[in-house]
Formats: sequence, structure tokens, C-alpha cells
Amino acid sequence: MTEPTAPAADPVLAHHRRDGATGPPGGRAAVIAGIGSYVPPGVVTNQDLEKRLDTSDEWIRSRTGITTRHVVDAGTATSDLAVEAGRRALASAGEPGADAVVLATTTSDRPCPATAPDVAARLGLTGVAAFDIAAVCSGFLYGLATAAGLIAAGTAGRVLLVAADAFTTIIDPLDRGTAVIFADGAGAVVLRAGTADEPGAVGPVVLGSDGTLSDLIEVPAGGSRQRSSATAPEPGEEFFRMRGRDTYRHAVMHMLAASEEAVARAGWRLADVDRLAAHQANARILATVAERLGLPPERQLSNIETVGNTGAASIPLLLAQSAAEGRLTAGHRVLLTAFGGGLAWGATTVVWPEVKAL
Ligand code: COA
Repeated sequence: MTEPTAPAADPVLAHHRRDGATGPPGGRAAVIAGIGSYVPPGVVTNQDLEKRLDTSDEWIRSRTGITTRHVVDAGTATSDLAVEAGRRALASAGEPGADAVVLATTTSDRPCPATAPDVAARLGLTGVAAFDIAAVCSGFLYGLATAAGLIAAGTAGRVLLVAADAFTTIIDPLDRGTAVIFADGAGAVVLRAGTADEPGAVGPVVLGSDGTLSDLIEVPAGGSRQRSSATAPEPGEEFFRMRGRDTYRHAVMHMLAASEEAVARAGWRLADVDRLAAHQANARILATVAERLGLPPERQLSNIETVGNTGAASIPLLLAQSAAEGRLTAGHRVLLTAFGGGLAWGATTVVWPEVKAL
């Protein structure tokens, strides 16, 4: 880790500038200008799940930290969640415009085309660049890096990044290993061009992947591999699967390493981190990561108890809810980290800006 050396009022912000957070030194940084989130009104409790699965409220709470989760009703798709979160983020930013819409999702409305153009059109942004990102639960961090790149390159001056998943549409309702964990929701941020020393500037983004373990988290059927083979998919192969115990170990390892690297590349020390905003995969994973990073529980943001694991939406939903509830306030130095299918992981830093979360 690098110790701050540049003379400045705020050494953390100075390091964002010195390290060239999202582009070449002196280049344009991506700055959070607005944030919004949306969860569908339907709620499923652990007691509801007890009625249809061989599970218990006690098992779910002690192994995952989840008590309730929001789920879409029949007919509601990922784009519906994304449009609402996007609308709120644009309102939070105070200006309706964006010249690119990036959607991170695993549950696109259709295999083709991407869902982002539809989301853009429904937000009155027909004509702008719009595309999806597939990085499963790390989608928001991959999206931040992509949005920052668009801004640094001058391709866009203002990006609406939405992360939305209707995970319950691909979960096997009879698989107790996943049905108790995954849920639905959306979060979105507006990123504008700015400078790396401003509050809200996205810090250096650390990303990684390991495709040798792509079968730990997968939907086996529905893609070109299965479609081009002569055999029909086995029953249930259209559903999402996760090898939970193996995934757990990798999740802790990669979130820790990515977090340490992101903090170092921002020129921070771990002791500088005021809030950890980690992908809400499992309360035990979060506690382990926070403990190993030396961050006490009061610095850990968490909403898994009431929303479950919402895939790509997890981090922006957490940030928006935490900001709205006052657990995350302007000036907090926030460490973001995620891990999921791919395998893919990431981390970055941001000094929380003065924004009203909607
Ligand atoms: N209710 C009751 N029992 C359950 C259950 C449920 N919902 N799900 C699994 N079990 C059982 C298993 O069958 C197993 O029984 P056995 O010992 O008789 O074989 C036992 O509980 C332990 O299963 P295991 O999978 O080892 O539990 P775990 O402590 O690892 O917890 C997860 C399971 C999924 C909660 C946990 O592994 C996890 O969170 N993994 C990582 C998820 C993650 O980070 N994903 C990232 C992508 S988003």
C-alpha cells in the first residue's frame, strides 16, 4: 500500500487525482451524480419458503442472514425494474439526460436483443448508445469500469448505469440451495464527466475472472453450446445452478484480494475505509470479508436481511438504501467489492458525494 505523499487538504482525494482514477492522469473521471433503486412490491418470507421447500427459517437466517426478499410477479421483467431504478437515478441527478445507457444483468428480457435499448427508449433516451453487460453478480463493478471508460474516452459525457436482475425468473423454485437466496431488484447511478479529485469520482476499478470455474455458477441450457448440440437439454437445465460451498471459498478469497488492491491503487489504507459496500451474497461471507479486512461491523453496509441476493443490483441497491437511511453520508470513504459467476470479481473506491438517493 502506498502512503499519501501529495500535499493536499484531503490526502484520500489527492490520491484519486494522482493515480488517474478512471483514465490517464488529468483525464476525465466518472463522477456519481445521482442514484436510485427499486424493488418489486411482492415479498416472500422464510415462512413462505418453509411451506414449499424442505428448509426452515432458522437454517436460512443462520446460513445466509436473509429473512425476506422481494420478487417480481408474473409478467414483470428485468426491464421493468431497470426502468424504475433508472428513472429514480435520473431524478436524483436532477437532469433527465444521459448519452449512454449501460445495463448489467444476468436476466435479460430476451436472449436477443440486449435489454438496455428498450430501457433507454422507455426513459425517453431513444437514440443513445445502449448495451448490456454480462458479469453476473459483479455486473455493477464491470459497469462502473465500462462507464468510466466511455467517459474518459469522450464517447459519453453522461452515462446511466443500471444494474437489474429478476433472478427468481431463472431460479428452480424447488432447489432449496438457490431459491432461498436469490431475489429481484434494481439499482442505478448517473455518472457524469468530472475530475478524479471530486467527491463521487469512481476510483481505480480492479476486475478479474477465472473461467476455469465457470461451472460453479451457471445456467447450463439456452445458449449456443446446448442449442448447437444434437441432444435436447436435460430437465431443469434451463435453471440457474450454484455449487454453494465451493463458491463460498472463492468469494471470500477474491473479494479480499480485489478489495486490498483497489484500496492500495486509490492510495488509501484499509483504516481509511468508512463503509464497506460488498455484494450481498451471504451475511457470513460479508462478515468474514469485513473481519479479514479489519473493518468493524459498524463500517459494514448490509441489507441482505430484507432483499436477499439480487445479483448485479446488489451493490447499487445497497448504496441507495443506505444513503436514504443515513447509514451512508457525504464524505464517507466507501470500498465496493463483488464476486459471482464467471467467475468474475471486482472492487473500487469512492468518496460518497452529496446526492439524494431516490
Ligand atoms: N435449507 C435447509 N438445508 C439446506 C438448504 C436449505 N435451504 N440448502 C442446503 N441445505 C443443506 C444441504 O443439503 C446440506 O445438507 P447435508 O449436510 O445433509 O448434505 C447442508 O445444508 C449444508 O449445505 P452446504 O451447501 O454445505 O451449506 P453452506 O453452509 O455452505 O450454505 C450457502 C449454503 C449456499 C448458503 C453457502 O454455501 C453460500 O452462501 N455460498 C456462496 C454463495 C455465493 O457467494 N454466491 C456468489 C454468487 S452471487
